[in-house]
Amino acid sequence: MATRDSWVSNVGFVLAAIGSAAGLGNIWRFPWLTAGNGGSAFLVVYLLIVVGVGVPGLLAEFVLGRLGRQTPIGALRSLTGSRWGSALGVFNVATALVLLSFYSVVGGWTLRYVLASPSGAYFDQPQQYFGAASHGLEAVGFHLLFLGIVAAIVLFGVSRGIERASKVMLPAVVLLLVGLAGWTAMQPGTDAGYAFYLGFDAEYLAANVTNVVGPAAGQALFTLSLGTGAMLTYASYLDEDVSLPRDTLVIAISNTFIGVLAGLVVIPLLFSQGIDPGQGGPGTLFVALATAFASLPGGSVLATSFFGAVLLAAVTSGINLLETPVGTLVDRLDVSRRRATVLTTLLVAVTGTGLSLAGSAFQFVSGTLADLLLSVGLFGFLAIVGWLLRGEAIAEFRAGAGRFAPLAEPWLLTVGWVLPVVVLFSLTNTLASLAGVSLGLGVRAIVAVVGTTCCRLAVTTRTDDLRDLQRSLRSLR
Ligand code: PHE
Repeated sequence: MATRDSWVSNVGFVLAAIGSAAGLGNIWRFPWLTAGNGGSAFLVVYLLIVVGVGVPGLLAEFVLGRLGRQTPIGALRSLTGSRWGSALGVFNVATALVLLSFYSVVGGWTLRYVLASPSGAYFDQPQQYFGAASHGLEAVGFHLLFLGIVAAIVLFGVSRGIERASKVMLPAVVLLLVGLAGWTAMQPGTDAGYAFYLGFDAEYLAANVTNVVGPAAGQALFTLSLGTGAMLTYASYLDEDVSLPRDTLVIAISNTFIGVLAGLVVIPLLFSQGIDPGQGGPGTLFVALATAFASLPGGSVLATSFFGAVLLAAVTSGINLLETPVGTLVDRLDVSRRRATVLTTLLVAVTGTGLSLAGSAFQFVSGTLADLLLSVGLFGFLAIVGWLLRGEAIAEFRAGAGRFAPLAEPWLLTVGWVLPVVVLFSLTNTLASLAGVSLGLGVRAIVAVVGTTCCRLAVTTRTDDLRDLQRSLRSLR
């Protein structure tokens, strides 16, 4: 087998991982979810979940990647020593393919808006324009174009393709957003927007906390690229001497900063144009914001920069999603990167085309299904790190961790107990609403705690049995 590709520098890895995290989730999903869920109330809950669940969870995924030194299937197989590990890996790779299928469709819309902004093609009739652009044959064309850009980068490999592209694109995204946020602050009529977004509304939070937790948790996983094995894949190209806890913090903080920055552009702009931020849903960015750009002086320049930033952010996330199956084919089947990229891209071209044409499937896949797949994937990672590997995971956490090393034990406790309960809780939420059953808060909490305890017992007894068996076999020899 050829030697595995790897990052040229830790900075390259960190930028690529921030690039993965900061994507359509931050700029497209985050502002409309925030606006539709009480503004600051959502922001507070989301930030708490990012810190409490996202950071330790991301660290768990990184530990698996660097310890396993392979893409999900091989890494999880060798770390668990069981076929269940490979099964979870296959599930991860499938998740990445599903996510990329709809991600590429929205990436295609963005690409179209970048091209249409200089002439203000959608300024007259933003609603109708989006209706025509979002589904159908033209949407298929732009989806394929977006996917082609992503594939071209992945084709060059980890260091020459992904690392280089991220080093240029991510700073460009930040610069564009900072410029746009500054410009937004100079617009008249934005005060109400800032108050809604940044002012803390304790009353709303108290009254709606149960409704806000679900979407906030889903968004926290999605934005940190957690649960697909995509971050695991990036970490598998890392060296031992890098501090995983430090990198995780830098990545999570930068990603949150970019999300909040995007909100600082979108929400005040909507308010300044008298547009109700809650009603737009997924079309907010492409309809409501487009309306705002249309009525502002210099609107076409601003719109081009804005959608340009969104496009770059989407590309740096798309490459992580594509690298997961591509790297897997290279690792497992020893096929060339070129062939792996072409094959995977063709597959996603087809699935994405299906989603471009079928609007209802798109809604389901990009919402409920994505949330479900990510939660199940993350639950599996937590089980492996927190219940099976334990000591090995602590050692991997500590390798290169420096002053963060003493945090290893509390981290493992969180990963083994707190996080699985939280993830199972939100999973129960999603499944119940999918089945049309309404469960009280207490019932959901009990399901989460009892479910976690049972799973943990099942997993640890099985492996303890296995270890006993191995020991007796060894003594027989
Ligand atoms: N984090 C990305 C975003 O916010 C989406 C993503 C999810 C990317 C999972 C890779 C893996 O847009």
